[in-house]
Amino acid sequence: MSKSIQSEVQKRRTFAIISHPDAGKTTLTEKLLLYGGAIREAGSVKSRKSQRHAVSDWMEIEKQRGISVTSSVLQFNYKSHCINILDTPGHQDFSEDTYRTLMAADSAVMVVDSSKGVEDQTKKLFKVCKMRGIPIFTFINKLDREGRDPYELLEDIENNLGIRSYPMNWPIGSGKHFKGVYNRRSNQVELFDDGNHGQSKSTTLTGDLSDEKFSTLLGLGLHEKLQEDLELLDHAGDPYDHAKILSGELTPVFFGSALTNFGVEPFLNAFINMTPPPSPRSSNLGPVDPNSENFTGFIFKIQANMNPTHRDRIAFLRICSGKFEKGMQVTHVQENKKIRLAQPQQFMAQDRVVVEEAYPGDIIGIHDPGIFKIGDTLCADNSGTAYHDIPIFAPEHFAKVYTKNALKRKQFIKGITQLSEEGSIQVFRRPNIGVEELIIGVVGVLQFEVLEYRLKNEYGVDVIIETLPYRYVRWVKSDLNQNDKISMTMDTMLVEDASENPVLIFQNEWSIRQIEERNKFMKLEEISIRS
Ligand code: G4P
Repeated sequence: MSKSIQSEVQKRRTFAIISHPDAGKTTLTEKLLLYGGAIREAGSVKSRKSQRHAVSDWMEIEKQRGISVTSSVLQFNYKSHCINILDTPGHQDFSEDTYRTLMAADSAVMVVDSSKGVEDQTKKLFKVCKMRGIPIFTFINKLDREGRDPYELLEDIENNLGIRSYPMNWPIGSGKHFKGVYNRRSNQVELFDDGNHGQSKSTTLTGDLSDEKFSTLLGLGLHEKLQEDLELLDHAGDPYDHAKILSGELTPVFFGSALTNFGVEPFLNAFINMTPPPSPRSSNLGPVDPNSENFTGFIFKIQANMNPTHRDRIAFLRICSGKFEKGMQVTHVQENKKIRLAQPQQFMAQDRVVVEEAYPGDIIGIHDPGIFKIGDTLCADNSGTAYHDIPIFAPEHFAKVYTKNALKRKQFIKGITQLSEEGSIQVFRRPNIGVEELIIGVVGVLQFEVLEYRLKNEYGVDVIIETLPYRYVRWVKSDLNQNDKISMTMDTMLVEDASENPVLIFQNEWSIRQIEERNKFMKLEEISIRS
């Protein structure tokens, strides 16, 4: 076992930030970069967000809307750690990629808006983290505004997400009177000073609650309230349990305000100490130790470059073990072929740099001449190690898609097949109806626009997209034989996925319950394992 691989693995922290749009994910990411020394002044990521259409050579849709269709990776060093933040697109660009990115993360930071509590998109992303059993850290944001009561927020997390919580700190005041937090691990008061409206790092006054200075600074009311709250938390709250945090059963909760920097630095410091480095990952040959000499990794995302002048694709690879070196030869396990990784790239937002070496936890982008599929494994030796844990996530929008020109049917099918392999869309067919009719499922509606654009620009096919009223999908996991007639509801459809597995699509949750009720022999699943 190489010492250098081991020490590089120990340094790595690879995580995704999940939230509902507008909770403050971009702001928090930017502040982590500020404290990590990767940017000098806050405002640069935001301005890149709005200027992106001016500099990006990516795709038309992105230019028109000024949003990113891709998710990027940010890497920076902080206190001898190498941090990889995986961006999970959240607005209109929410797609299956957002879920798949979570498969490449070792932990997640969940940002919750203190005035809103747990919102829809957070719930969906949380489910994936929970399924993987990765640690989930909660940052309750916007404490500088009037928000909901902190106890109520914790209850909301526990009731809505089914995870216990342990407040790492406790807010002192809120809204205009938000002064700082009490750190329950160090038993110290941390009062923040926003000298610069969050643009640069804020200063913190730290000390013991019994110190008279704090009762004066806080005022008697806040001081007493804090003492009462702390007693209540100690008596009625869950105890701190590191093992439960690591297995994703208990979420450490941090209160703060990303905009004003309150609580960002203590959060970052606690987080990097508590979140784990890359750990063994399960494969067809058993768990693979990240410290192993054998380089392995899997592809979790394929991104097409929409610019017609360089129509390449980039496959994003999460390194799971060993050391990656530029130019190395590896086996593409699923195709059983040797390939050379010549021009791998690493991403700092939209800027690409060629990477010379990389380690477990890192994400690299490799040129894809059309040979990779989501979930493929690359492996340096001939062991045939294969990772198989990227599932297929439930689409939420469905449409029938036709080619306008029947003579282009061949190109149409080729395009649909490739885009489906790339993970941009899911294809369903109605069994036994004679004519072939394609039903496309996507997680985010923007994927339909991407589909239309790419079929036209890459395959020369104009299509008609006719949206369908379905919103939910369940894979039928029981063996269906001819005697098992499914008792259906009027608004439910039976289709087959690309691997000919039976799938039900529904218009509402009521129908799902009805079907389950009427067909007790059937087991329905929301997420399917790639076959
Ligand atoms: P997102 O990536 O999760 O979608 O959220 P983003 O960071 O873009 O933040 C959404 C809005 O919330 C932004 O305001 C941002 O400034 C604000 N915000 C983020 N953190 C805090 C916080 O701690 N306190 C307060 N009060 N606001 C916060 P906006 O008006 O939509 O954008 P902008 O004009 O400020 O850029």
